[in-house]
Amino acid sequence: MTEKPTLPTLDDIDACVFDAYGTLFDVAASAARCRDELGDKADALSALWRTKQLEYTWLRSLMGEYVDFWHVTGNGLDYAMATLGLDNPSLRSKLMELYLRLDAYEEVKGVLTRLRECGFKTAILSNGSPTMLTAAIRNARIESVLNDFYSVDSIRIYKPDPRVYQMAVDGLNIPAERICFMSSNAWDAAAAANFGFRVVWVNRFGQQPERLPGEIAHEVKTLSDLPSLLGF
Ligand code: LAC
Repeated sequence: MTEKPTLPTLDDIDACVFDAYGTLFDVAASAARCRDELGDKADALSALWRTKQLEYTWLRSLMGEYVDFWHVTGNGLDYAMATLGLDNPSLRSKLMELYLRLDAYEEVKGVLTRLRECGFKTAILSNGSPTMLTAAIRNARIESVLNDFYSVDSIRIYKPDPRVYQMAVDGLNIPAERICFMSSNAWDAAAAANFGFRVVWVNRFGQQPERLPGEIAHEVKTLSDLPSLLGF
């Protein structure tokens, strides 16, 4: 094992790369919009749906059985609905359709705009399929403040495989140490830091840090603090 150097502060950054789900887009928004139908099961459904969706990405990657994130998202929802005794195909369709237009967190557009004004490249690096990401980006009206997005679908393996993080290095043609990566998912933040990105963990949900390799440079509550961390 080679010793990893101590991470420097957030200077010499050329690009800001963002995780999508949970970081830019609120994954709880779909179930929240169906609160009338879901009643007091809304929060449990949302949490279990997300948990199974992520577990299936990790498990499928280990099994070598890739299907795209839309499929995995549907499987996670089916598991969660069955667990909560919800047998309702039209509600399932509505929840899936709403997943294509999740709300962006309120600070997202302003922060991306500011970063672009300051000369940073901006991109998304996500498990999401191209169709899902295109829909979410369009819905949030942030096309004009993003340089690009990178979907794992082109390499057919999910985060936290290091090849996923390499996609941003190759796509942007910027070395890892000059890329600042933001994720609200602590495991994604840890893996991105372990890969070599400078990582800001957007700890929106007040979670504990993961006990995983990867040294996170900064922890913030929302993305609003990012421009000042970068010296703007
Ligand atoms: C993503 C998941 C991890 O957008 O939130 O890649």
